[in-house]
Amino acid sequence: MEIKSAEFVISNTDIRKCPEGNRPEYAFIGRSNVGKSSLINMLTNKKGLAMTSQKPGKTQLINHFLINETWYLVDLPGYGYAQRGKEGRERIRHIIEDYILEREQLTNLFVLLDCRHEPLQIDLEFMEWLGENSIPFSIIFTKTDKISRGRLQENLKVYQAKLSENWEELPPFFFSSAEKREGREEILGYISEINAQLLK
Ligand code: GTP
Ligand code: MG
Repeated sequence: MEIKSAEFVISNTDIRKCPEGNRPEYAFIGRSNVGKSSLINMLTNKKGLAMTSQKPGKTQLINHFLINETWYLVDLPGYGYAQRGKEGRERIRHIIEDYILEREQLTNLFVLLDCRHEPLQIDLEFMEWLGENSIPFSIIFTKTDKISRGRLQENLKVYQAKLSENWEELPPFFFSSAEKREGREEILGYISEINAQLLK
């Protein structure tokens, strides 16, 4: 899919103020610092479109980006950032949960996992929660430039085994590197296929 335009539309904490209309939305979620905002910039070929930072906790709002004037990419705050304190974490959790459970335009959620790590409880529990609430999601393993291909395959096997304990069927998964621009065609192709079904 060709990205002809990518425009920031609105940031907010309240899903009632998210854009009106029924354009399909694809949102990115995962632990703080996993690379959600960087991935949006890589997919759209616009470096500063979504704000990124080396420090976790950068994105604090629901951010809508209109793509090709027909659908949205949505950057969400990360979960599990300890430095925020209990109150801060609760506030962010509320924003994320509200959006995921209430936003009817949400078409697919991409759960981002850092490919370097073993499955973490917080991510497993989050995906569990998505399942309980029947939210369709796919997985993107990020930062693949940081490890070797062999290590990546090993980590993937560990993940698959772990997820199979709870899931009969595993969700679709992708690999990405914002640094090396890996995964762009695959992820955009996947979105494009879903859009074709919805917008025909
Ligand atoms: P929050 O908004 O805090 O939840 O974080 P985020 O998930 O949006 O992460 P962000 O995109 O801001 O990236 C966090 C850090 O990881 C930044 O320093 C990025 O440059 C780096 N990063 C993101 N993606 C990649 C990648 O694919 N490869 C490498 N090497 N670094 C990456
Ligand atoms: Mg971010």
